[in-house]
Amino acid sequence: MKLLVVGSGGREHALAWKLAQSPRVQIVYVAPGNGGTAQDECLRNLDITDPAALADFVEREHVALTVIGLEAPLAAGIVNLFRSRGLKVFGPTKEAAQLESSKDFAKAFMKRHHIPTAEYETFTDIAAAHAYIDRKGAPIVIKADGLAAGKGVVVAMSPDEAHAAIDSMLADNKLGDAGARVVIEEFLAGEEASFIVMVDGKNVLPLASSQDHKRLLDGDKGPNTGGMGAYSPAPIVTPQLHARVMREIILPTVRGMENEGIRYTGFLYAGLMIDANGNPKTLEFNCRMGDPETQPIMARLKGDFSKIVEMAIDGKLDGAKLDWDRRTALGVVLAAHDYPETPRKGDRITGIPAETTDAVTFHAGTTLTDGKLTTSGGRVLCIVGLADSVHDAQSVVYDTVNQISFDGMQYRRDIGYRAVNRKQSDRQG
Ligand code: AMP
Ligand code: GLY
Repeated sequence: MKLLVVGSGGREHALAWKLAQSPRVQIVYVAPGNGGTAQDECLRNLDITDPAALADFVEREHVALTVIGLEAPLAAGIVNLFRSRGLKVFGPTKEAAQLESSKDFAKAFMKRHHIPTAEYETFTDIAAAHAYIDRKGAPIVIKADGLAAGKGVVVAMSPDEAHAAIDSMLADNKLGDAGARVVIEEFLAGEEASFIVMVDGKNVLPLASSQDHKRLLDGDKGPNTGGMGAYSPAPIVTPQLHARVMREIILPTVRGMENEGIRYTGFLYAGLMIDANGNPKTLEFNCRMGDPETQPIMARLKGDFSKIVEMAIDGKLDGAKLDWDRRTALGVVLAAHDYPETPRKGDRITGIPAETTDAVTFHAGTTLTDGKLTTSGGRVLCIVGLADSVHDAQSVVYDTVNQISFDGMQYRRDIGYRAVNRKQSDRQG
């Protein structure tokens, strides 16, 4: 059978790589794909991004299933379009994708359904927003309502920073329509984890837990990025916490959407903040998998993922079961010169080793031209290593990273440090 994955990042490379391992899958198209998906003989890049043209292709080529990797086409209604043409697609409708595409929608939904999250208010009026900040003080968090490609959240440590964020979004219109409405919310302290599940409208199938590193520099310093590395499993998600997140956050969300007449289908990603007492709150929802969390998660997934996706599309996830490699998978992102501000393109990439059973390289911002691989985006590659401990997975990854080079390459040397520290403190008592 033929499959299609829509997107061009490391997440989509990892999804396509996993789907292509199924014996019943001949080819996985990736639209538009990247330099890595271009090199893989089981994958084929498709230079199409228009949803109607993609649906035409799927009909013409009898593509059996389509998986949408990223949020923008979901928010624009690609699932509605595919379904209206009778095509099998995994993702939420435009209406359901509002859990990610409107922070105000998500916050109001969580409030209605008593799902734990930070306190908030929503503003379009500049003076009212400034007055709220004066009343609440800092730290405080300012979020653009709409999709802003990772640039829509300001965690303001001082009132000045918070006021500046309001001016930038509401007065200077720096984020356009996405920032014309803002959510201002309470600052939550703790440790983050990514909790990702598959939903078929009713049934929920949790994927393995993971944790992302959003800051550019070691020790979680420097600017926020799309994610500089991730690993799975995340030891902070104990079986007890897992059960609580399902009971207090995931299931009420899926039931709440169903009760409001907006059945949720697709990947659902709850970004969690877990406080010092182990209580989880929802920072955000994404209506897709995480990038780079997908890369280590797919590296650990065993079995035929195409069957699971098909069961999800057919509303049969109650009969699905996932098996995981017991090892830790750890992914380190290699980013371009001057990422995240103004990533440089066109640097030649060399030294990527062949895939082994314990190390895989997923591509994101890469382009293949005349057999030469160059950088073409902020996050360039994600190297995933698998080993029995987080520490050993780090060794596998960094040994691989040392073989790869391109001008301006930046990466963190400490991906997984929280898990290493947690294991050490567990051992000490
Ligand atoms: P979001 O896109 O809403 O997940 O926000 C991006 C990042 O900002 C999160 O991963 C957190 O690191 C941080 N963040 C968001 N909301 C809060 C909050 N209420 N308190 C503290 N940090 C937050
Ligand atoms: N890694 C965070 C995200 O995909 O939103």
